[in-house]
Amino acid sequence: MIKIGVLKNKIQTKLINYFLRNIPSYYYERCAKKIDISTDIPVFSALAKSIISEGRTYLREDRLYTLFQCISRLPSNAVAIEIGVFRGGGSKFMAHLLQERGAGMLYVCDTFSGHADVDSSIDGGHRVNEGFSNVIVEDVKDYLKQYGNVRFIVGDIVKTSQQIQDKEINLIHLDMDVYPPTKFALEYFWTRIPVGGIIVGDDYGTSSCKGIKKAVDDFVAKTRDCFSIHLITGQVVIVKTGA
Ligand SMILES: C[S@@+](CC[C@H](N)C(=O)[O-])C[C@H]1O[C@@H](n2cnc3c(N)ncnc32)[C@H](O)[C@@H]1O
Repeated sequence: MIKIGVLKNKIQTKLINYFLRNIPSYYYERCAKKIDISTDIPVFSALAKSIISEGRTYLREDRLYTLFQCISRLPSNAVAIEIGVFRGGGSKFMAHLLQERGAGMLYVCDTFSGHADVDSSIDGGHRVNEGFSNVIVEDVKDYLKQYGNVRFIVGDIVKTSQQIQDKEINLIHLDMDVYPPTKFALEYFWTRIPVGGIIVGDDYGTSSCKGIKKAVDDFVAKTRDCFSIHLITGQVVIVKTGA
């Protein structure tokens, strides 16, 4: 009896391995059961395509879809922040969805002149005032002018954060690429995030942005009321839980 069981297991293992080697990839990587986010999600697909076509965001459909899902579950009067805006494409995507949901508002925070501070021991090739410095804030304001729910906060977030006075912040998109302001923003805003509130950290899994992973991992390790999920998009999602 035992021998028959062992034999069955061996045959099963061989069959599974055979199928895994020979099944066409469209049964899993490109599985037909998958939802194609570029065409199949009403509201999202067209908006994402349109924003990407304007050439003002580094975010592609996969990362925009994470933001879309987070915004979809916010209250209609949600307060959201994007820190790290560059030319405003990601902000436009967020502002549009927040406005559609009702009275949602968005703080748009950036130096608009590149990095104010980096930690050269972990932030690799990023340099103060180098990348992202060719942005004209007036141009970004003009680009977002149709959104009455947008407020601009211009300058190093470490110095400007106090301008955001709202008691509750439901969603933060952190996209600054480097360690010092990311560490700061996580710690500064955390107490104002309500239970169920979310921080989406861009570039957590990006090899040229190691400071993001360190800032997030250190923060999550010492913070009792949260959990984090690393997405295969490269983002990390941090959710505030009850105490
Ligand atoms: C990767 S870009 C943001 C990309 C943008 N979210 C998009 O949709 O393409 C990073 C931005 O972070 C900004 N940044 C870096 N350090 C900052 C700081 N200390 N305070 C405010 N903004 C900062 C830079 O100026 C730059 O525009």
